Amino acid sequence: MVRAPYSIFMNDTPTDLPSLQLPLKTRRLTIREYTDDDWSIVYAYVKDEAFWKYQAGETPTEEKVKALIQWAVREQKIAPRINYYLAVTETKSGNVIGEAVIKVAPPGHGQGEIGFGIVPSLWRKGYATEVARALIDVGFTTLKLNRIAAQCAPENKASIRVMQKLGMAREGLLREHYRAGGKYWSSVIYALLAREHEKIKTNTSR
Ligand SMILES: CC(C)(COP(=O)(O)OP(=O)(O)OC[C@H]1O[C@@H](n2cnc3c(N)ncnc32)[C@H](O)[C@@H]1OP(=O)(O)O)[C@@H](O)C(=O)NCCC(=O)NCCS
Repeated sequence: MVRAPYSIFMNDTPTDLPSLQLPLKTRRLTIREYTDDDWSIVYAYVKDEAFWKYQAGETPTEEKVKALIQWAVREQKIAPRINYYLAVTETKSGNVIGEAVIKVAPPGHGQGEIGFGIVPSLWRKGYATEVARALIDVGFTTLKLNRIAAQCAPENKASIRVMQKLGMAREGLLREHYRAGGKYWSSVIYALLAREHEKIKTNTSR
């Protein structure tokens, strides 16, 4: 479908978008802003090939990780803020154990996207579920989103399971829609609507 040229007006970013109050606290985790010094901790886990098994691209270099963290820090000062790339830390130890992403896109249309990654040595402890649940809660309550989506490779069973556990519905499969590392990648898309989230919250609080 080709959109009418009026759709260019959809790209305007409203100036009154709500923003997140950080850090976010969950039962075991603190989700906080990155600082420039965090790059080496991030590099330590993203250089693990296991982390990239179901993600496009190749293991990033030190320079790329430094640039990513510098970008995340710059985004902290942008208003209205639409990109939150955050550090996941274990509250007890203070250690960085992963990353959390929430993005308002496109701004002004109630749409958001989340992402998450956990240090491979700490997989299967429920951390990603805890992170994703926190992102979804603040996405609907603080950022006032209407729909929150997440996507991953169809083979990424752990990521799909996290999305299912949060009540997100599978909306579809984008077949071979981008190219990275010399091959085409497909993505499954899951999403949750604000009214579905309300229903889940009501049912679980009974
Ligand atoms: C995807 C990822 C974040 C999951 O992290 P995690 O902390 O291990 O996830 P959780 O412990 O919360 O587990 C969630 C569910 O997935 C299941 N699961 C975990 N690994 C699995 C695997 N390899 N295969 C199938 N199910 C798996 C868990 O058993 C759990 O389900 P259950 O409660 O019904 O038992 C982690 O594998 C990761 O960081 N991968 C690399 C980055 C990535 O792919 N991110 C997602 C793309 S946005």
